[in-house]
Amino acid sequence: MNIWITGASSGIGAELAQLYAQAGHTVFASARNQQTLAGMEVSAQNLPGNIVAVPLDVTDNLAVETAIETMTTYEGGLDLAILNAGYYEPIEFDDLNLEHFQATYDVNLMGVVRCLLPVLKYFAANNTGHVAIVSSVSGFRGLPKAAAYGSSKAALINMAESLKPECNARGIKLSLVNPGFVKSKLTDRNDFTMPFIMETRDAAARIVKGLASDSFETTFPRRFTYGLKLLRILPYRLYFLATKALVK
Ligand SMILES: NC(=O)c1ccc[n+]([C@@H]2O[C@H](COP(=O)([O-])OP(=O)(O)OC[C@H]3O[C@@H](n4cnc5c(N)ncnc54)[C@H](OP(=O)(O)O)[C@@H]3O)[C@@H](O)[C@H]2O)c1
Repeated sequence: MNIWITGASSGIGAELAQLYAQAGHTVFASARNQQTLAGMEVSAQNLPGNIVAVPLDVTDNLAVETAIETMTTYEGGLDLAILNAGYYEPIEFDDLNLEHFQATYDVNLMGVVRCLLPVLKYFAANNTGHVAIVSSVSGFRGLPKAAAYGSSKAALINMAESLKPECNARGIKLSLVNPGFVKSKLTDRNDFTMPFIMETRDAAARIVKGLASDSFETTFPRRFTYGLKLLRILPYRLYFLATKALVK
């Protein structure tokens, strides 16, 4: 398979690139850090598959268009796109500002949309293909200090639910990935104890397995994420009793 991974320069995306290249696939690795991607390309040379650096900023329309052109004209084209690039900045109530929301939405939401639309067009023309959208359990319900991040991820969940039936009708598989806490640069910024936090490699292995299955959603670790799913049906009165405790 030829697989596009955005946010491939670190964390979950970098581990996914490694796992897929080890399994013999060609990985188009995208992120802004060109040097890291070039290093990944070289270090994959003795793996059964390969990594091709396709640097881009997901907030840049032209860069995304150029990347799509590169991948769709590559030998074998594109089979799977894992839209994983993400941005998270924990923020206190008193520091909330417009730029914070814009920066978060432009990567997490519009960054996915920018990559998703041309990919869907390409897959729909061939009645095949697989897209995976990496959201988060923080999109399940609103949590303190994550108004921008959580709402960007909630939008991705809703968008994936909305598009799935239409994608399927055109022969395109659409998957949603909702990880719990995973060790990465992103979670290094948290100053609280993260329950059931997982190693990046374990998380990537769960994603590879989940995407190979028929499940629409891949979520892990289940003992944590299924608990959070239950919170979705709590009435507001009880839900806010729980989240009030998270506010100092
Ligand atoms: N870690 C967790 O606990 C957790 C939980 C749930 C969901 N997630 C989601 O999983 C995904 C991966 O996160 P991670 O934990 O692996 O974090 P990470 O290590 O910080 O990785 C984020 C990746 O996104 C890339 N990126 C950021 N802004 C970009 C932009 N404008 N254009 C292109 N690439 C950009 C970064 O590369 P460059 O800086 O080189 O561009 C990096 O490769 C994110 O969508 C995150 O929201 C993570």
